[in-house]
Amino acid sequence: DGVTVTALRDLAVRLATAAGALVREGRPERVVVAATKSSDVDPVTVMDRASEDLLRAMIAAERPDDGILGEEGDDVPGTSGLTWVLDPIDGTVNYLYGVGVWAVSVAVVAGPPDPASWTVLAGCVHGVADGRTWSAGLGEGATRDGAPVHVGSAESLSRALVGTGFGYDAGRRAQQAEVLARVLPRIRDIRRIGSAAVDLCLVADGSLDLYYERGLNPWDMAAGALVVAEAGGVVTGLRGGTPGTAMVVAGPEHLVEELLPILEEADADGAGEAAAG
Ligand code: IPD
Repeated sequence: DGVTVTALRDLAVRLATAAGALVREGRPERVVVAATKSSDVDPVTVMDRASEDLLRAMIAAERPDDGILGEEGDDVPGTSGLTWVLDPIDGTVNYLYGVGVWAVSVAVVAGPPDPASWTVLAGCVHGVADGRTWSAGLGEGATRDGAPVHVGSAESLSRALVGTGFGYDAGRRAQQAEVLARVLPRIRDIRRIGSAAVDLCLVADGSLDLYYERGLNPWDMAAGALVVAEAGGVVTGLRGGTPGTAMVVAGPEHLVEELLPILEEADADGAGEAAAG
């Protein structure tokens, strides 16, 4: 329908900011665990659902032909070829406990709503706890609170501050701990921020040097991956693959190149598990 990247980015920012205001007001009175998802340490709060409901209503009003892929609701296929990818609260455990950072992540993608084949056109990560807002448009660069950002300049992996995260499944966590044991001696230090979307944005503005994680969902990564790419970084999977659920690695290219062989040797994406059946 001739909509521009700039217009989509503006809408992503408006959506994430509006949902962020709702989520901020809801804490702590309305922080009630509504359900658990993949395991009983994977919570959904009433506010995750309220935030996604608001995002969906705003999209239906402004872009009724677009599809929706959201963490907390049914997929809407759409007819325009564009899909909004929504994480109404990324960092739900932080939100629940009042620790650190949580965010609303909104992206709009062209093509199938699958990280292996989509093109992210625009995205916004609104860090609700402190109000920092990162956004990017394809070919437009990336900003934090309106100022251009660029990935960091650490000279080598041994000087790199690296973010990662862990899934909610006990077996997966044991595997991720083994990978971490290989990575940790080789880097400056590790951070487990608790929001994949924010991790990616911190890489984009140089607050973290690198980030890797296995097991992300499309809504955790969509907006943040574009912010990193538009900030001059690379976002990739292992063994030449695309970034996706198996693995997302993000950072300046020279640091990513140093980290990849360590992750591959540690089978961080589980490719070896799959091969072993
Ligand atoms: C989680 C966070 C966390 C990451 C997990 C995600 P949620 O998202 O991004 O940092 O390690 O893999 O599931 O559950 O808070 O939306």
